[in-house]
Amino acid sequence: MWTSLRLACLGAVLLAFTPWAQAQEEMAGTGDYLQSSQAFKDYMLQCAGCHRYDGQGLTHRGIPDFNQSIGLFTRLPAGRDYMIRVPGASQSQLDNADLARVLNWIVAKFSPEEVTPEYRPFTSAEVGASRRHRFDDVLKARTELTVQMNKLGLEPAPYLYGSMER
Ligand code: HEC
Repeated sequence: MWTSLRLACLGAVLLAFTPWAQAQEEMAGTGDYLQSSQAFKDYMLQCAGCHRYDGQGLTHRGIPDFNQSIGLFTRLPAGRDYMIRVPGASQSQLDNADLARVLNWIVAKFSPEEVTPEYRPFTSAEVGASRRHRFDDVLKARTELTVQMNKLGLEPAPYLYGSMER
């Protein structure tokens, strides 16, 4: 009850910012995406329930922290693919363009320092190509990626899978 009330209020507040956003479909670089109030709104309504408004998630419940971490995944093709295919992202109600935008917003907001100069924002075509391939085993995919990243000297946020009730 309290949560839905708060969400309703949040929705009302966010809607007030909508007109300012709409024109920003195509943007480059990490920073510009922070100007997108559509991405902000999508994040708050579709992702923040688990990942929290500050991106810290709940490590002890299996939701990894995005801060100083999620940008590292963009350095590997398999990492980008993983970001699109995790259930919270791929199975959200967002369409491909909206999901691409919110992923770009997450990188820009919580982990801009971890991307390389070669970083290119996600596009709706990239999201569309990966999204339909669901993971049989997210734990395995995340663990393999972590090993790969560690070999490159990169330390993504801990992922304490299994502590979350499913
Ligand atoms: C119901 C809870 C929930 C919601 C809602 C959710 N996620 Fe997640 N997310 C998780 C969990 C749990 C993980 C860890 C991987 C797994 O077990 O699925 C995760 C992992 C991720 C990761 C990879 C992070 C890492 O370090 O491995 C990304 C990227 C991500 N989510 C994006 C999103 C986006 C974008 C949204 C909103 C459209 C979203 N998630 C909504 C629960 C959620």
